[in-house]
Amino acid sequence: MNRINGIRSALGAVWMLGVGVALAVAPPADEGKARLSAGKSRFDKLCVSCHGAEGSGLAPGGSGASYGPRLAGRVELDEARIHDRIVHGKHGDKAMPPWGTVLEETEIGQLTTYVKWLAATPAGQQAHVPLAPFDLNDPARIDAGKRRFAKTCAGYCHGYEGVGGRAPDFKGRTDLPADLAYETIAKGRQGADVMPPWGHAFSNEQLWELVAYLQYLGKQQP
Ligand code: HEC
Repeated sequence: MNRINGIRSALGAVWMLGVGVALAVAPPADEGKARLSAGKSRFDKLCVSCHGAEGSGLAPGGSGASYGPRLAGRVELDEARIHDRIVHGKHGDKAMPPWGTVLEETEIGQLTTYVKWLAATPAGQQAHVPLAPFDLNDPARIDAGKRRFAKTCAGYCHGYEGVGGRAPDFKGRTDLPADLAYETIAKGRQGADVMPPWGHAFSNEQLWELVAYLQYLGKQQP
């Protein structure tokens, strides 16, 4: 297999994966994002001690399984059940405290949205993907991402404005959800010499600015 085809087929696999993820979990819509991040910060304060960071089911500090069950990747957990459990808790040898009298309904709603998002995302994915720290539609962020992209990514593999390079075009792509784009940029892809990882070269914000730019390109006419 020559180099270009290697790149093509490896990236093809990434796009397929993207489609799978997109079908399984719609990326958080913008109006939902504030809700999600509010839910996440409350979860980080109140729930990680028993459910692990991002509901991983791993005790904080790496001492094995957490006291409460894993929530991430539990696609069978529906919103009603999550909401009910947060409000009422559960008695038993392992108890979950009830939050219905402690938190406002809006706060419980935000937690429910966040836990549902954790539950709906395939296990192992969301644990590495911190939520975007800003609005991905912010023109200033898109512009910063564009400049970084032009400097770092365009010349060698992706072409000017993400078109016409060795890798598939980004314009008009709707099948690359933000979290997968983030993960791909941060970690690269292995198997062929396709995509180097940038997670150490860029800060979290810089990575998300690149994602913002890619999302922006995705909305342009191919
Ligand atoms: C003191 C430890 C503890 C804390 C704190 C805690 N949980 Fe739990 N949680 C549990 C345990 C234990 C269970 C399992 C209860 C059962 O079903 O037997 C549970 C179950 C759940 C479930 C249902 C999972 C399932 O398998 O049905 C959800 C959803 C949940 N917790 C969300 C939260 C959220 C959100 C918070 C923070 C507001 C939180 N929990 C805080 C211990 C805790």
